[in-house]
Amino acid sequence: MIEAAPNLLEVRGVSKTFTLSAGLFRRDTGVVRALDDISFSVPAGSTVGLVGESGCGKSTMGHVIMGGLKADAGEIVFTDPEQGPVNLVGAGKQTLRHVRLNMQMIFQDPNASLNPRMRLFDLIAEPLVINKVLSGKALEERVVQLLEQVGLSPRYMFRHPHALSGGQRQRVVIARALALNPQLVVADEPISALDVSIQAQTLNLLKDLQQERKLTYLFIAHDLGVVNHFTDTTVVMYLGRVMETGVTREVFRQPLNPYTEALIGSVPRIGGHKRGRRVVSTGEVPSAAKPPGGCHFHPRCPYAQDICRKEVPALREIRPGRQSRCHFAETLELHGMTSEPASAPVPH
Ligand SMILES: Nc1ncnc2c1ncn2[C@@H]1O[C@H](COP(=O)(O)OP(=O)(O)O)[C@@H](O)[C@H]1O
Ligand code: SF4
Ligand SMILES: [Mg+2]
Repeated sequence: MIEAAPNLLEVRGVSKTFTLSAGLFRRDTGVVRALDDISFSVPAGSTVGLVGESGCGKSTMGHVIMGGLKADAGEIVFTDPEQGPVNLVGAGKQTLRHVRLNMQMIFQDPNASLNPRMRLFDLIAEPLVINKVLSGKALEERVVQLLEQVGLSPRYMFRHPHALSGGQRQRVVIARALALNPQLVVADEPISALDVSIQAQTLNLLKDLQQERKLTYLFIAHDLGVVNHFTDTTVVMYLGRVMETGVTREVFRQPLNPYTEALIGSVPRIGGHKRGRRVVSTGEVPSAAKPPGGCHFHPRCPYAQDICRKEVPALREIRPGRQSRCHFAETLELHGMTSEPASAPVPH
């Protein structure tokens, strides 16, 4: 019996481990705990940001939600309009096939997502044809409508992706993702591979489409400036664990976890002395195959005490709607974002 879910998507205690192998006989040489008991919720119609440095498990989370990777443990509950709450971990093939039509993923690199030999018409029509949704004139009309919705002229319909700019190609990816009218879109760093000049336009398009179609987004990003502007709630991850969650505005104004403070401190500011610095100041991310014991962040944390090396802090509710995984979350006075980030493409 699946517990009813007030949110469109609920990730409950999800773990995912990769076994690493090497050598001629592919000996197992270690494990990477890419997701370690991850829980968060995605309310319908909202945008949830999943943020953290490279290698913390963001893409793995996206793939586990979409079914490309299988979770080792936990539940992923999607509330389907027809079927009600469905636990995607362990659901039958038939149910999954139906539910997955309501979920689509957009990837970072539009070139990798689009077959260069296919014309735009076929690329956008493909999901509708495969799922036998439309054909003939109705299919053509729908492709024209999707092209227009993402700001591309229907005149481009019979061109190939190489004739388009990077930003236009990402618009085709978005049109293709929206073809089946999904409710949830998992966008994995959707603007990271684009020129800075077109990042804001692409974000604006995603926002407009969200309003028009009442979409729900899980927005994966490593750029905090973008997350600050684009998301309603934020989930901060570090080495496979959730470090902090909360309403984005509040998380950025007053973080409750030293890792979030370090991430915010690394964002370049307009007129600020940190302009140009793009990395967390306290060193490199440790190997995910050999994460530090206790609190994973302790070797880099300026507030670390003995207990941090020995005991894993639990993810706890510190204030209503605010969770943090830190032994000292109640007592530390951490710094938030005090001025506008210089790097963020600012949507209108
Ligand atoms: N297929 C895989 N096999 C082995 N390790 C993997 C695989 N995919 C991801 N990982 C590892 O899992 C961790 C999380 O990766 P990923 O989810 O891609 O992080 P992010 O998207 O946050 O950069 C990393 O240590 C990465 O090397
Ligand atoms: S538990 Fe300790 S090491 Fe971890 S973030 Fe808090 S103070 Fe830093
Ligand atoms: Mg990634």
